[in-house]
Amino acid sequence: MISERIHFEQVDSTNTVALSYARSDLDHGIVIVADEQTAGRGRVGRTWTSPKGNLYCSILLPPFDKGSVDPRLSLLAANAVYETVADFINDRHGLSTKWPNDILVDGKKVSGILLEACDKQGKIFCIVGIGINIVAETLERVPPEIADHVTALHLVGDPSITRDEVLESLVKHIDAWYARYKKEGASAICSFWNQHCNSIGRTIEIPSRNVTGVSKGINERGQLIVETESGEIAIDSDEIRFTSLDA
Ligand code: BTN
Repeated sequence: MISERIHFEQVDSTNTVALSYARSDLDHGIVIVADEQTAGRGRVGRTWTSPKGNLYCSILLPPFDKGSVDPRLSLLAANAVYETVADFINDRHGLSTKWPNDILVDGKKVSGILLEACDKQGKIFCIVGIGINIVAETLERVPPEIADHVTALHLVGDPSITRDEVLESLVKHIDAWYARYKKEGASAICSFWNQHCNSIGRTIEIPSRNVTGVSKGINERGQLIVETESGEIAIDSDEIRFTSLDA
């Protein structure tokens, strides 16, 4: 699926640049990579601090007809990132997927994924933006309140890993997962994600809904199922937190 890589030294956000390449049905399979971002975006309006050294890239996916965007594409990307990180660390036991689309090593975030969509020419274009922390020193730039919750590949794997090696691996895994998705549908994506999920059986809070319950992993539609006192609920993208009982 990925046919072209375009490199920039500095951009505001690779997601914004990737979106600017979406003009017709033929525009997809492009990966935008930047050495640094001046306005990197994270989920729920957060900033993604993006100094030189880490991987910042965005993939322009083939467009969808209106109403047919598949939200499981961010889980597809999470699986591909999981396998990418596994290629570079010594021990994959500490590696997990975290709802909605983070990758953790030993409970600390090493990568985040931001799926964004835009309506153009009657089609919906989706961008999968991926940030992978590589260089330990870049963590000094993250906000202090998250500093204890993030890690980088150089801290958990070989300290000589380069950004381009990580990108090579990521492109290979995205291509493989996308081919599998086209052939078999999304069920393989969901079951791989569940096998590696860090929350199944644990008590979680969903602050946006003021609800606590036990995570049961995702269903075939890519929603997180949570067993609460008043029954099961399915959530689409809300953030979760582990309760103090289950930290
Ligand atoms: C998250 O909040 O966990 C998602 C972070 C996504 C960051 C990546 S870096 C490349 C791409 N460009 C952006 O502006 N954001 C994504």
